[in-house]
Amino acid sequence: MYTKIDGKEVSAAVRGQIARQVQELKEKGVEPGLAVIIVGNDPASRVYVNNKKKACEQTGINSFEYAMPEDTTTEELISLIEKLNKDDKVSGILCQLPVPKQIDEKKVLNSIDPKKDVDAFHPVNSGKVMIGDYSFAPCTPAGMIEMLKYYNIPIEGKHCVVIGRSNIVGKPMAMLMLKNNATVTVCHSKTANLKEITKQADILVAAVGKPKFVTADMVKDGAVVLDVGMDRDENGKLCGDVDFADVCEKTSFITPVPGGVGPMTITMLLKNTLLAAENNG
Ligand code: GUN
Repeated sequence: MYTKIDGKEVSAAVRGQIARQVQELKEKGVEPGLAVIIVGNDPASRVYVNNKKKACEQTGINSFEYAMPEDTTTEELISLIEKLNKDDKVSGILCQLPVPKQIDEKKVLNSIDPKKDVDAFHPVNSGKVMIGDYSFAPCTPAGMIEMLKYYNIPIEGKHCVVIGRSNIVGKPMAMLMLKNNATVTVCHSKTANLKEITKQADILVAAVGKPKFVTADMVKDGAVVLDVGMDRDENGKLCGDVDFADVCEKTSFITPVPGGVGPMTITMLLKNTLLAAENNG
């Protein structure tokens, strides 16, 4: 028997708490606001941005959308960000990724004031995560930690195996797990004997970007499996990096896709926006 981790339930609980804190802050005269920048016409990005704006509305956070054309230059985007850095109504700034290929993503992320960098993608904030002394936690990894805590799943002393080494998920997840006293192994596309390593995981995090990549033979009995994937299967149906039907019976806890890690990412973005407003307001 396994427990399906309900990301919507955890999200609702955390968002309720955020909404109350937003109200308290407004009573002190501080209005949290999130600037959301979207460049171009990527349909997936449009859905994410709409969801982020809706989540802001639900919790009483102001949101300001800046939609820029596909042919925007790096300089134009940075000039908008510099304006938002100085705008007191804007507590947090988020530039939805990916940006069109003519834009220098690194330069853009580096131009966001670290105090308003609610995604925690700026090198200053990545560095703070690395030394375990940060205010903004990276949203997707922080969302996973929040889920583990909600379900009273112990982290300390456990072996956590992360598949994927991206700057957005894999690497910061390893850091947050270390901060919580797990023993961490990071695997990636060049890892030899991947299955031998994943089979040792008490907590297995799949952040690969390949549909149904993790199968039952890669999972230890009773493991906790967290699936960051947002993929399409052979029939075009939304699925994760974990073959849920194959793996679930071996696990003690597992996140579904959709309805698992996804909702938590946006919830942590709201939490960071609230934090930015408290700190900057
Ligand atoms: N694209 C995919 N995930 C994210 C995210 O967490 N933040 C931003 N800004 N863009 C993304």
